[in-house]
Parts: sequence; C-alpha cells; structure tokens
Amino acid sequence: MKLGTLEINKIHLGDCLDLLIKLPDNCIDLVFADPPYNLRLKNELLRPNHSKVNGVNDDWDKFASVEAYDHFTRQWLAECRRVLKPNGCLWLIGTYHNIFRLGTQLQNIGFWILNDVIWVKSNPMPNFKGTRFTNAHETLIWSAKSETSRYTFHYRSMKTMNDDLQMRSDWLIPICNGKERIKVNGQKAHSTQKPSELLRRIILATSNPGDTILDPFGGSGTTSAVAKMLGRRFISFEKEPRYVNIANERLAAVQALETSLLEYKIEKRLPRVSFGNLLEKGLLNIGEFLYSKNEKHRVQIQADGSVVMAETACSIHKMGALLSEKASCNGWLFWYVKRGDNMICIDELRGMYEERWMRLYNSNIPVNLLTL
Ligand SMILES: C[S@@+](CC[C@H](N)C(=O)[O-])C[C@H]1O[C@@H](n2cnc3c(N)ncnc32)[C@H](O)[C@@H]1O
Repeated sequence: MKLGTLEINKIHLGDCLDLLIKLPDNCIDLVFADPPYNLRLKNELLRPNHSKVNGVNDDWDKFASVEAYDHFTRQWLAECRRVLKPNGCLWLIGTYHNIFRLGTQLQNIGFWILNDVIWVKSNPMPNFKGTRFTNAHETLIWSAKSETSRYTFHYRSMKTMNDDLQMRSDWLIPICNGKERIKVNGQKAHSTQKPSELLRRIILATSNPGDTILDPFGGSGTTSAVAKMLGRRFISFEKEPRYVNIANERLAAVQALETSLLEYKIEKRLPRVSFGNLLEKGLLNIGEFLYSKNEKHRVQIQADGSVVMAETACSIHKMGALLSEKASCNGWLFWYVKRGDNMICIDELRGMYEERWMRLYNSNIPVNLLTL
C-alpha cells in the first residue's frame, strides 16, 4: 500500500525534506518528531576518571548556524502540518537546547499546543563537571493541527493505566538502557535511541489502531517498531543508511499484538440508564413502593416512571429533593426498594442493569437485539 508515491509500513532512506513532499495532503493521523538537537558541543566531555562521555556529536546534529537550524525546522514542520489530517496531531521532543526554538516555529506555523509533557528520566546522565543541575528531563510538545481539530485522546485508558488517577503531564520513564539499547560491536548503535515505553504511551494515548503514524527522523526505528506492535501503520524517514539497516532489523523482530487486545473497550461509553429503563426491564415494577433509607417516606411507582405521594407526582429526583427539603437530590441514592428482608438502594439495580448491558455490549451482539 502507498501514500502518494511512498510505500507504507516502511522506513525510507533519504532526507525528510525530499521525502515529505512526496506525501499527499491530509494523509497522516499522528506525527512523532525527534529532530536534531543542534547541541553545538565544543569540547570533548570527560568523566572524573577521564573516560570519554558519548554525547551527541554526530554530523546529523550539526548546522551552520542557529538561523540555518530555524530555517530547516520551519520547512519540515510546515510539511508535517500539510500532510496531517485535519484532526491529526503532532508530538515533538527536544531538550533545552532546541525545544524553545521548535515550540516557537510550531506555533507560528499554526499548530495548536495541547500539552507540554515532561519526560522525567529516572536514570539521567550526571552533570560530570558539576557546573549545572543534572539535566534529568526532555520536553515533549503535543499539538493539534489547528485549534478546531478533534484530536484523539484516550482519556479513560490513560487514567486506567495510571491506577484510576488522571494521567499527569510528568512521565517518569528510564532512558533507553540494558537489553532494549541496540548495540553494534558493544557500542550504542544510535546515540539518541528513545525508550519504547515513551512511544508506547504516546501512541496508545493519541491514536487508534489502523492509524498512520509518520516519523520524519526515524533513527533506530523506535516509533515504527512500537507502531507496528500496536497495530498502527507507519512511515518513517532517515537519512543515514546505517540507521535504516538497524531499524529494519529491529522491525523484523516485532510481532504485532492481536487486534482484540488493542481495542479501547474502556473508552466505550455506556448509554445513560434511566429510571424508565429499570421498569422496562422488570428490575422494578409498576405499582411497587420505594422507601427513603429510614423508611420515613414511601412513594408508589407509576406506569409513566413518575412516583406519587399523596397528591404529588414527579420524578424520583424531584421527590427526593422535596422530601429532604433540598434544591436537588440524586434519586438513585435516595430511594430503596424491598427485596425479601432486605432494602436495596435503587442505584444497585442500575448497576446490575449496566453490568448486564456491558457484558452483552462487549460480546458484540448488536445493540438492538439485546434482551435483558
Ligand atoms: C534524535 S535522532 C532520532 C532518534 C529516534 N527517535 C530513535 O529513537 O532512535 C534524529 C535522527 O534524524 C536523522 N536525521 C537528521 N536530519 C535528517 C533529515 N534531514 N532527514 C532525515 N533524517 C534526518 C538523524 O540521522 C538521526 O538518526
């Protein structure tokens, strides 16, 4: 399959500026860009024991001037925006060396910033000279194509992943080390290989299975490998042949997860359960009585779903509010029904309804065939 003239699910060798123009407008769902940092390291960095620190001193990180770097940034970012679908989004990662310049260009081009996320490195490299704070984070900017984009965000899944607490914008993730770090002849194959965990969170949170993900600075292939594992399509550019080879080897070893494991089941919203639904399904009966918790009040259920006490007929919520002399009341928690010797809060019946509906809903039986 192709996008314009470029094959999909492939790492393409070449300069991203030459390759981006081959993509049609509005064809990409998510861009992850980890561009050159333009670090401008002047001297060799040594540890206290005089061993050399492998910083980022690669040719691909060198630019003639800051202006040249800004010019390059504007060019590739504008192309990324052109190829993004209207509801697509872009993730950009950088350090203090480049992130502010990147962020300025990004906004000038028309992207709409949604969040900046701090990747806190649990195992950062120390500041060997002891002249500054240990640089223990990188910054990610998450932005939509425009202010009006209806971007993808799997809020509930992220919350679930975070033990039912809203996922925050500071992510504690170790730098890529150990088995995950690709080595050639005992040396790091790529000086800035990003941890898969970082990409996994980004792709899971802000794209859907089957979406197309573009990485214009593919490097060792982290984005493509994670995209493949998560059932997304990918297209990646990289100008150094050695990195393309490494990334291809890496990709070949990746198994895509089964589609059924990639569904966002938790994101599916249950339909609102109304009091009338419980009557329709026989969980409550017309003519039955509902009681306040202390049994001080009793109302009778009518066929139309209202409840009646003396001359007053209204909803369970309004009746609860009248009796408790409050402006509003959650009738689901106010009213109880007798089942045998027990008093059951009607919210529990609503829970039973939802549980049963959820079970059938997830079993793919068409909704209109559900019988409860
Ligand atoms: C910061 S690294 C990306 C690392 C990658 N995220 C990973 O996890 O391995 C940037 C990469 O972009 C590549 N690169 C730099 N300029 C490029 C350009 N104009 N077109 C395509 N690739 C480029 C470099 O060779 C380098 O591998």
